[in-house]
Order: sequence, then C-alpha cells, then structure tokens
Amino acid sequence: MSDEVGSTKTPAPDDHLGSVLTENQSKFKTCGQIGFYRRQKDFHPDRSPYVAQLNTLNTENGVVTLNLTHQETQVPLKLQIFAVEGNILRLKINEESSVKPRFEVPDVLVKEPTTEQLKVSNLETGSLVLEQPSSSWKIHLTANPFSLLVTQEDKELISVNAQGQLYFENAVLPSKESGLTETDPANKPSASKEHFGLWKEKCEDYLDLKDPSSVGLDFTLHGFENVYGLPEHADTHQLQNTGESEAYRLYNLDVFGYRIHDKMGTYGSVPLLLAHKLSHTCGILWLNASETLVEVHSKAALKPQMHLPSPDMQKQRVVPNTDIRWMSESGVVDVFLLLGPAPHDIFKQYAQLTGTQMFPPLFSLGYHQCRWNYEDEADVEAVDSGFDEHDIPYDVIWLDIEHTDGKRYFTWDKEKFPNPVKMQENLREKRRKLVVISDPHIKVDPKYKLYAEAKEKGYFVKTINGRDFEGSCWPGASSYLDFTNPAVREWYSTQFSFDKYKNSTDVLFIWNDMNEPSVFESPEWTMPKEAVHHMGWHHRDLHNLYGFYQQMSTSEGLIHRSGGKERPFVLTRSFFAGSQRYGAVWTGDNKAEWEYLQISVPMLLTLSVTGISFCGADVGGFVGDPDAELLVRWYQAGSFQPFFRAHAMQGTRRREPWLFGEDNTSIIRRVIKERYTLLPFWYLLFYRAYLFAEPVMRLVLFFYLYNFLPH
Ligand code: NOJ
Repeated sequence: MSDEVGSTKTPAPDDHLGSVLTENQSKFKTCGQIGFYRRQKDFHPDRSPYVAQLNTLNTENGVVTLNLTHQETQVPLKLQIFAVEGNILRLKINEESSVKPRFEVPDVLVKEPTTEQLKVSNLETGSLVLEQPSSSWKIHLTANPFSLLVTQEDKELISVNAQGQLYFENAVLPSKESGLTETDPANKPSASKEHFGLWKEKCEDYLDLKDPSSVGLDFTLHGFENVYGLPEHADTHQLQNTGESEAYRLYNLDVFGYRIHDKMGTYGSVPLLLAHKLSHTCGILWLNASETLVEVHSKAALKPQMHLPSPDMQKQRVVPNTDIRWMSESGVVDVFLLLGPAPHDIFKQYAQLTGTQMFPPLFSLGYHQCRWNYEDEADVEAVDSGFDEHDIPYDVIWLDIEHTDGKRYFTWDKEKFPNPVKMQENLREKRRKLVVISDPHIKVDPKYKLYAEAKEKGYFVKTINGRDFEGSCWPGASSYLDFTNPAVREWYSTQFSFDKYKNSTDVLFIWNDMNEPSVFESPEWTMPKEAVHHMGWHHRDLHNLYGFYQQMSTSEGLIHRSGGKERPFVLTRSFFAGSQRYGAVWTGDNKAEWEYLQISVPMLLTLSVTGISFCGADVGGFVGDPDAELLVRWYQAGSFQPFFRAHAMQGTRRREPWLFGEDNTSIIRRVIKERYTLLPFWYLLFYRAYLFAEPVMRLVLFFYLYNFLPH
C-alpha cells in the first residue's frame, strides 16, 4: 500500500519501563543454566552405547518391539515401532521395566493412532529391515550401535540415533544402572554435583528437588537444509543453526516484552519441526510436555554423486543434511515421523494426529477492539459508539482483568460495571460481542465462591507436602486450578453456564491469559516444577500442557452453555500441540516498535504451519505507545493476519482508530473495511483449514514449488 501516514511522533522510551524489561529478561534461564541440558551436552560418545537386541524382537499386532541395552550399564530400554496409517511412523522408547512410571502425554492425540501391519524382512546378523507392504518407505535397523534409517523409494530420508545421542536417565538407580553418578554423568572426575543438577538444581533462591529423568535423541534429515516450526519464539520463520549457542527452548513462560531474535521459550510450545526440500517435505513431532530443548545443525557436505553424468558434477554436488537433537527434562521418547512427501501431506498427517483448526464463529474473524482496560460501562459505550461515528466496522469489544471484582474471575466490579447485562444487550442490538478475561489463578479468599468450592473439592495444584499450592498473581495470593484433572475441567467448564456465570449472556466469549501458568516471584515466573498434579504427576512432567487444558475446558464450557449448538470463541496465550482444536492464540506482550511488527509475520507463519491457524499479534504493540505511522502500518499488516485484534497495556495512551487525525483514521477505516470485504474469503479459508488442514497463513513455496518440480 502506498498511503501516506500522519506524523505523530513516538515518545522517548520510558526509562522505568526499559529497566523493568531488562530485569525481566534476566529472570529466565539460558541453556547453560539448565541441568539436563548440561548433562546431555556432556554426553558425546564416539558411538551410541545402545545396542538393539535382535533376539528380543517381537511383532505383535503389527507393532515391532525390541530391547535396546546400554552396553556399560546393561539397563534395557524398550523400543516400539509403529506404522501409523497415512505415511507416519511412530517410535516409542521407555524403560523396559520401571519402578516409577514416566509421564506419557495424554489428550493431545485425537485418538490412539490406527496402526498398520509391519513386516520384518532381511533379518540378518546385526540388522533388519521393516516394511509395510503398501508403502514406499522402509526402516533399516542396525543393531550395534543402535540406529535406524528410514528410506522412501530407496532414498535416504531420516536417520535416528545416527549421531549416537539417544540418552535416557534412569531415575531409580542413578549411579549404577544408568551410568550416571551424582558427581559425574560422563566419567569426568572434575565434574561437581552442582554442575549436573541431577537431584537438585538451584534457580535463584529456589531449590528444585527431583529425580534425574531426562531423555534425548537425534535425527538426521538427509538432503534437507531448510527447517521450520517449533513455536513459540520471536524469531525467523526458517529455524537457525543453533551451533554451540542457545538451543530452541520449548518451555511456556510469561515473558513480558520478550526479546526478538531469541530462542528462549515464550508463552506456548508446539514440538513439531518441519523439513522441506524441493522434492520432499517431512516432519518430526516430539510428543513430550516437559521442558524441551532442540538443537539444529545444518551441514552442507560435498559428497560424490556417482550417478551424475560427468566427473565434475559428481564431485561438486553438495548434499546438505540437518541434524536435529531433541532433549527433554522428563517423560518418554514418543516421536512421530511424518513422511509427507508433499507439504500438504504433512499438514494432513499432523492434523490426523492432533486435529485441525476449530472452525471459528464468523464474528471472530472480524476486527476486535481491546485495551487493558476499558474502564467502565460508559467507556465501553463511548468506544462502541466511536466506531459508528467514525464509520469503522468492528465486531468485538474486550474487557481485561479490571472488569472483575478484585480479579475474581466470573464476577463484575459493581461500581464500574453495575449493569453488565444491559451493556451486552446494547452490543447485541448492533450484532456485536463482548470478550472477557478468565485466568487460571484463583484468588485465595474463602468468601469467593469459586475459590471455596475448588478448595473444598481439592481442585487446586498441590505442593509436595499435599497443601494447596499458593503463588502470587494479579489478585495477590492465588491458588491454581489443576486443569490436568478431568473432573476439574468438567467443573470449570460448567462455570460458564448462564446460571452460574452471573450476568453473562450468549454474546460474551472468553480470553484465557496467564496460563503458562504465570506465577509472580516464582522461578522463571512460573509454577515450581515439583508442584503436584492429578495422579501425582509433577509439574515438571506436564508444564507445557497447562494452558492447553485450560483452553480445552473453557471451550467445552462455551459449547455446553449453548446446549451444543454454537461454536465457541476462546483466545489463549499459552498452548501446546492440539490447541488448534479449542480456539485462537495470540503472541502475548509484544512492543509498540517496528521490529515487533516485522517479527509478527514469521511468528504467525510458524504457528500456522504447526497447526495453529487462528493466530494474531497485538495490533499497535502491547507495551509502549506507537506513533501514528507505526499504528497505521500495523493495522495494514494485521488486517491480513488471521486473528485481528488491537490491544494496549494499562498506562499507555489511548489509541482507538480515530485518535490520530483524519488522514490516519481514513487509512485505518479503509483497511478494516477491506478486512470485512474479504471476510467471506477468510471464512472459506478457515473452513478449509478445519476440513483439510490447510494453514490459513501460508508460505507460497510450500504450495507451489513442489508441484512444478520433478521428484
Ligand atoms: C498479560 C497479557 O499478555 C495482556 O494481554 C493482558 O492485558 C494483561 N496480562 C492483563 O490481563
């Protein structure tokens, strides 16, 4: 667009805010401060210590099982290989027998995947081949050291453990059985206890006591140099080589004003990596909900290609490879290899496992007006009429935490919002909607019905001593609902019914925020890892699932509220693989700076190719005050992004679209009107995302180049 924009100037950055942001970043760990990362990095054998015991091979119901034994410790692991219908392979590695069960991610897969019969062929000394008669892939297993090579049409595609980095800590008998000792996981006498953080690890003043249970594995992607995925990071769409620097961290955290071009974890995680080359696209889904680090090492190796016609060409052919190393703090190895081969196959294969984007209600694809906070009913009324007066269409106005009675969700501040039903009826008359916030922390207040009931039912996350965990968040001392418990989800979802949620109507929809979960003054601003959930699982095992479960429960609540008739709208800040089934995601607390407008594009593309089509970034930037030019440009970009909402932090200057002079208002008006002109097209794209798993925001190369190239 070539519109000139007005010239209101950005104010000088607020010094106080600057120092808050700097201090904020130092709360979060770098890789070197993470015990399991140090332990795994210290493990670099010349060859993998694991040997596949071919004499234990068993094929029952088409699933191949065999033991992998650690050569030094003799501790056996159980490997299971499944051929999942639709060109997907699944590998699971767990302890062969364990005293203490390990967490396996529930509820993310839409169903137990349908498997197909695997056939063992070429069983020779030291190797075997697995195939599925109607497929073009084969798995070549080498026993000593253990590795797998997946070929497709006899071409190398993915190797597993080719770098020998299969890593499995055994919690029960650390020093003898796993080869790990308290002092020295890698037989280095100089290593200190503290260094490896096996049994205890310090984060600021906090001591995390745990069993060592970290797992890891490497994959080589043959001929691939372009890899994507692994949200959420404020970084480029194409994943960068991590080299010896920070790995991509998947650990859901409340990172206010996050740094850009950074691999630290932000609010959500999807452990899905995609690899693309001209002839093939494939993917790796690492189904683990504990803290996870991913290293990317691309290499372009000169490799002789004897099939090429001239000796020169044979020499010059560069064959790139990318090695991916996954490391998780706990759980099991449960990994799906999506074999493509076309980009749209990958999206389908991933959706077959974790579901497609929920088909959003039409209104939610329009323009949303949000601010922390619209102060009271008069403010809502004024902003709402402002849109009419300035002839700007919009569909939804939002209320942040201040609309509640002292940050007690599901309540209203009686002074500021004395007639919430009337306010909603006024919006309804114009066919508009209201979204209000509902966070997972619940104010510790025995007089607050929601708190009292949850406490009585035992629905809060616990400490290791069995007491309700208490942390600090917006309302002050708070307890946190244990959404991992199905009974809690069921109970929470009923809170949205019209009889329970007083003064709510069917034009009111929900925003789940702070659900990483955010816990002020706690290590890395989140829940301590030893906190205890349903069935005794520690928070460490399932941290990245917490927000996923809250949105799931909220979304189900809105469906029930309408007697199963209406599609819900729920926005969440934290997410995991599969969150697409429950609503929309936004990229959290960005800043009103040009770089954040720019980074919104790759961030949203990455979310989109990992299943989360309904995504957006705060238009205008949440932290700070945009000048008119930035605001206008942000509207122009935001109107072409799937979730289109302007939002601003408390204390920032008001920035409704008509406050920057008529020149700017008219550009914003035009941009928003264009969004509405295209609304049927957006609706269609979302319908196709829901039906066929096609990302709404997509890379052109994924869709076009493939079709024109020889395979
Ligand atoms: C943090 C969220 O990221 C932001 O959007 C919201 O306005 C504040 N919490 C207050 O609820």
